[in-house]
Amino acid sequence: MKYGIICAMEEEIRLLLPDLTDCTMTEIAHRTFHEGKLYGKDVVLVQSRIGKVASASTATTLIDRFHPDCVIFCGTAGGVAPGLHVGDVVIGDRLVQHDFDCGVPERIFEIPLLGIKYFEADKSLNNALIKAVENYIKNDLHSDIPACYLDEFGIKSPTVHTGTIASGDQFICDNQKHEWLYSHVESLACVEMEGAAVAQVCYEFDVPCAVVRVISDSANDDSNVDFDRFVKEAACHFTRGSMKAFLSA
Ligand code: ADE
Repeated sequence: MKYGIICAMEEEIRLLLPDLTDCTMTEIAHRTFHEGKLYGKDVVLVQSRIGKVASASTATTLIDRFHPDCVIFCGTAGGVAPGLHVGDVVIGDRLVQHDFDCGVPERIFEIPLLGIKYFEADKSLNNALIKAVENYIKNDLHSDIPACYLDEFGIKSPTVHTGTIASGDQFICDNQKHEWLYSHVESLACVEMEGAAVAQVCYEFDVPCAVVRVISDSANDDSNVDFDRFVKEAACHFTRGSMKAFLSA
């Protein structure tokens, strides 16, 4: 089994790279694909950069050139569903591109010619990821992230959630957009900028896919977490800890 793992930001893969052994690096289209063993499993690890085009093109190269058996995207998201807090983790059961609109109201979000609005994540990958992230939070989170950062970000006892993840080429930090998304996307949990693009590529290649997101903000006017600090001091630990728990299980 070979796992493709994608993160959008350098800071998010930063802690995984030193744990990769027998590593071969291949440069393709301004991306570095790191092939090797991570916690005993064969992986290809790559930073996609931010947004739907960057992540879709990265997923395409990853699948076409490296043939992973599945693809997992890890990163941060803005929480939209009530009850989600900074530090909670969402594992998407469905992915939708919230900025896709061909102008036919009842077909909003539908990808033309595919006829699909919501791309399904792989159920068995998701079940294994839920267990892994829960174990990470219970056993290692509080020793990984210094108490001063947990306090700063208001992280106490994070919980793991499932739901729809909506992706678009927009950082959402506006109450009106937040409300619009919550009322238009079925079972919306959180928003980010890559997952549904990767899910569409995986669908077209018939490769199982999963998206794991730690909540960094509430995608509205009163998000008061410093996003860059959150990625650097917290999200990178969630990514490494979750992948370690998942791949070592
Ligand atoms: N990633 C993290 N927070 C986000 C937000 N509010 N909107 C889009 N992508 C995000």
